Amino acid sequence: MSTTVYHGSLINPATPTAYEARQRSLLAVNSQGIIDWVVHNVESSLVQQTLLQRGCLDAQVVDLLDGQFLMPGFVDTHTREQHAPQVPNLGTGYQYELLDWLEKFTFPLEAKFKDVEFAKNTYPSVVKKFIASGTTTCCYYGSLHLDSTKTLADIVHSLGQRALIGKCNMDTHCPSYYIEESADASVKDTHSFIAHVQSLSPGPSNDPNNPLIFPVLTPRFAISCSRDLLGFLQLVAASDPHLHIQTHISENVKEIQFTKELFPECRHYAEVYDKYGMLRKNTILAHGVHLDDEEIDLIVKRKAGLSHCPTSNFNLRSGIAPIGKFLDRGMKVGLGTDVSGGFSPSMLVAIRNASIASTAVAVTHTLGKEEEEGKFSNRQLPLATLLYLATKGGAEVCELDHRIGSLDPGKSFDALIVDVRDGAGGSVGRSNPGMWGSRGGTLDDQLGRFIFCGDDRNISAVFVQGRLVGGTSSGL
Ligand code: GUN
Ligand code: FE
Repeated sequence: MSTTVYHGSLINPATPTAYEARQRSLLAVNSQGIIDWVVHNVESSLVQQTLLQRGCLDAQVVDLLDGQFLMPGFVDTHTREQHAPQVPNLGTGYQYELLDWLEKFTFPLEAKFKDVEFAKNTYPSVVKKFIASGTTTCCYYGSLHLDSTKTLADIVHSLGQRALIGKCNMDTHCPSYYIEESADASVKDTHSFIAHVQSLSPGPSNDPNNPLIFPVLTPRFAISCSRDLLGFLQLVAASDPHLHIQTHISENVKEIQFTKELFPECRHYAEVYDKYGMLRKNTILAHGVHLDDEEIDLIVKRKAGLSHCPTSNFNLRSGIAPIGKFLDRGMKVGLGTDVSGGFSPSMLVAIRNASIASTAVAVTHTLGKEEEEGKFSNRQLPLATLLYLATKGGAEVCELDHRIGSLDPGKSFDALIVDVRDGAGGSVGRSNPGMWGSRGGTLDDQLGRFIFCGDDRNISAVFVQGRLVGGTSSGL
């Protein structure tokens, strides 16, 4: 792979309140899939001259059309499609709240992944769907099974997505047909899983320090982990400060009550994790709907990040997480699809529900009142913030923002070519009616059209570390 240079429009998230919308940009990607340089406002007639000045005359040039733009790929910070084994359950079981939903819907499906053949047959289409939806980095929860979760890692690796993948730890308060034998067995399998993932080749970067797949320690949630297990996992985490950790926190009121009953020595839910060394800068906490002020302070102090999963929070009636308040308090926040609590693997759907959730908070708090102080608290999150949460914010939560999350020189080219032209997606059979009448408009208009009306038919190419891994024009 030699240098590839893209010429066209570009959206680049900068801060939680601003993104760059640039036109006629030239963006060069080197043979390791790293963005070498970016310049803007280069007329077509000056492209060759610019390449000559940059010593890139042998580069392959890809011209984007009007109505197409480059943007960073999405970072999904929590799914079991991040919960990969739950994908076949999409759209079912939403008459239940969390604990009943787990018992009646989720655990029975996950238990099927004991059969590695079932995993081999199910996971490839799940991962391909995530990639087609524009997710270039995905935090997956596997099931509790070692072999099936290794299979998930192998499949993600072969399909070229960047991912954090965890084998669930769960040795208590789970049904007898879906529970680990003992804390010892759980930790032994965890070591084996970590070693497997770390043995995978680094991918197109060819750089062992820039792998595509990371293992992530995954105590499912406090309820499903005995004190012995948490103690063992604490040792595993302490032995490698670079090891990511993911878990659920304060999602549902009954879950919180039960957690407090199980751990009466802890003042709150967050303290359970803190006591076992699980709150640190590479920890990803899913949901956090009902965090209290002390918990927020602790999480911010430990620099852990939050995965906001609004679709699932609505579906399972968990509540609405006050994301504006978290941002004002300095918490790192990303978005998660939380399949199958969420009904879609698309981060576009997560973004839309994050927008609606923030609007609901704003409306409830401001009806008949003066708007409260705060940059984000009790306000509808604007497009720039939503975009940030889905890309750069997610990269921060994963502690990968030095590599991904924006299209800046030095970062990996994890990117999408978005196409919002009327008729977009026709190449895959049926065009997206959401683009009907789309006449381009400003680049900001095009971004809004994609975010609120787009779907995988509007994603014509998906790149991870410079390599084409999906999209409607990829033939993959
Ligand atoms: N808490 C513990 N396990 C789960 C799960 O699979 N999904 C969600 N949404 N919450 C959980
Ligand atoms: Fe979840």
